Amino acid sequence: MDAQLINRSAELIYNSKHTIALTGAGISVESGIPDFRSKDGLWSRYAPEEYATISAFREDPEKVWRMLREMEELVLGAKPNPAHIGLGELERMGYLKYIITQNIDNLHQAGGARNVIEYHGNSSTLSCLWCGNSYNVEEKRGEYPPLCKCGKILKPDVVFFGEPIPPYALTKSFQLAASSDLLMIIGTSAVVSPANTIPSIAKQNGAKIIEINLEETHLTSTITDIFLKGKAGEVVPALVKEVKRLAGIN
Ligand code: APR
Repeated sequence: MDAQLINRSAELIYNSKHTIALTGAGISVESGIPDFRSKDGLWSRYAPEEYATISAFREDPEKVWRMLREMEELVLGAKPNPAHIGLGELERMGYLKYIITQNIDNLHQAGGARNVIEYHGNSSTLSCLWCGNSYNVEEKRGEYPPLCKCGKILKPDVVFFGEPIPPYALTKSFQLAASSDLLMIIGTSAVVSPANTIPSIAKQNGAKIIEINLEETHLTSTITDIFLKGKAGEVVPALVKEVKRLAGIN
């Protein structure tokens, strides 16, 4: 990890007034949840066009639940890692206003963050596409596939390809990106829209961009100002430590 880049990034975080973060599956890999597009990612085992579109779910919900069950069992046992906890600390110290996450694992909240926008919904509730009933996931825990009392198979309230982004998440994220002076992009390949428009909205409004990833993305050479190559679970705590030093917090 490049100490000079860490120090420069920590100074930006310390001096910024409206820092926000955009996170993807990479921030949860060290919590044991595989990401989607890395070598052993989820999409290497389940073709997204067959398992992650709303039409695939309507066509064969039982088949899609085979993937959902694997995801659910991975998320169930997962704990927030030092990256989630570090962002929670930055928020508590007043150096991070909001997290916009593409993840549905609830680990930012478990890591202490309160201002979290779930851009792709969350997996804690289930809905019936046919009769509109909604259930808490705990009511159906262990039931695969989970059934509505009308007899149809329930769908988790996560956003499948072909579904709209929850309106609140869309507008709030746009507003935050348009008024941020620093955007931290952590653990995302930034290939899925419209989440991947957030970095350019922030950039167009003059925000500095810090990107944390194991490898470069298409953002790195285009809009990223500081690229911190490494594991989120190691880079974020290093940033928090340096921000605390600048703030005189031990
Ligand atoms: N630390 C930092 N970055 C990491 C780590 C780690 N420990 N592990 C993986 N990464 C990086 C990968 O290099 C990759 O760039 O995280 C990124 C994960 O990219 P994706 O797997 O494409 O996940 P994400 O960007 O969140 O996908 C966006 O696509 O399939 C949909 O709805 C799904 O929300 C998801 C969206």
